[in-house]
Amino acid sequence: MQIIKNIKDMQALSRRLRAENKTIGFVPTMGALHEGHLSLIRHSQNINSITVVSIFINPIQFGPNEDLKQYPQDLEGDLNRLSSLNPVIVFTPVASEMYPESFSTSVTVGSLGGILCGASRPGHFNGVATVVAKLFNIVRPDNAYFGQKDFQQTVIIKKLIKDLNFDINVIICPTVRELDGLAMSSRNTYLNNEERRASAVLYRALKFGEELILSGGMVEAPSVKGQIGKLITAEPLAKIDYVEIVDPHSLAKADKIASPVAICIAVIIGKTRLIDNLLVESK
Ligand code: PAF
Repeated sequence: MQIIKNIKDMQALSRRLRAENKTIGFVPTMGALHEGHLSLIRHSQNINSITVVSIFINPIQFGPNEDLKQYPQDLEGDLNRLSSLNPVIVFTPVASEMYPESFSTSVTVGSLGGILCGASRPGHFNGVATVVAKLFNIVRPDNAYFGQKDFQQTVIIKKLIKDLNFDINVIICPTVRELDGLAMSSRNTYLNNEERRASAVLYRALKFGEELILSGGMVEAPSVKGQIGKLITAEPLAKIDYVEIVDPHSLAKADKIASPVAICIAVIIGKTRLIDNLLVESK
């Protein structure tokens, strides 16, 4: 495993690898690695000569009242976890090099950034798009890997790649789940035992919504959303941020359900905001 801290070194290595005709797979992360991240890395290792994993807690994607200060950090644990895989290159820049005082340019993602998670996290997706664009320019990958768990993020990154003509394939990998269905997330570490038990309601709600849609009995999106909402609010520790049924490409709200759709939810359990989604395609 090679660890690179500095932007110029990462760019030089990437230039060398490309000159040697090596394909570069890229897995951007904010660290606190779990099985979801490791599965992205394995997907990358299946088809690329080299996989670069970035570990960088991006301050500009956190709002002023969000969890930047508490966000889990465990570089040593992360490096241990990575050492059990085939060798990877780890890129861990520091914030002062990514965002020096003179930094002033950023990517704005437009209306896609103001809906769903963007409605309660203003500016979040501009921060994500800006750091991802910077990382793409530093790592210069052929293929970049993102988890479906952050569904809105995947749609926005595909749009970023198209709109700004990055010559990169984006590969969206399935959400990795705990035994009770909870989507793996670095933020799950915030949950106490009671909250952890309660958080299984997200996946139960998604599967219930899928069942309602696939049974064909319910085609009006507001009715399905209402039923999903009822199931979630029956869990005393859960508070709904949103339940939406959207077109999986445009994220436009669906009125009538025509296949495929994505059911997207954000639920606050205790003080922790969790998101999840399910793509529903009738056979
Ligand atoms: O999904 C994440 O962990 C982050 O949003 C990303 C893509 C690494 C950008 O900071």
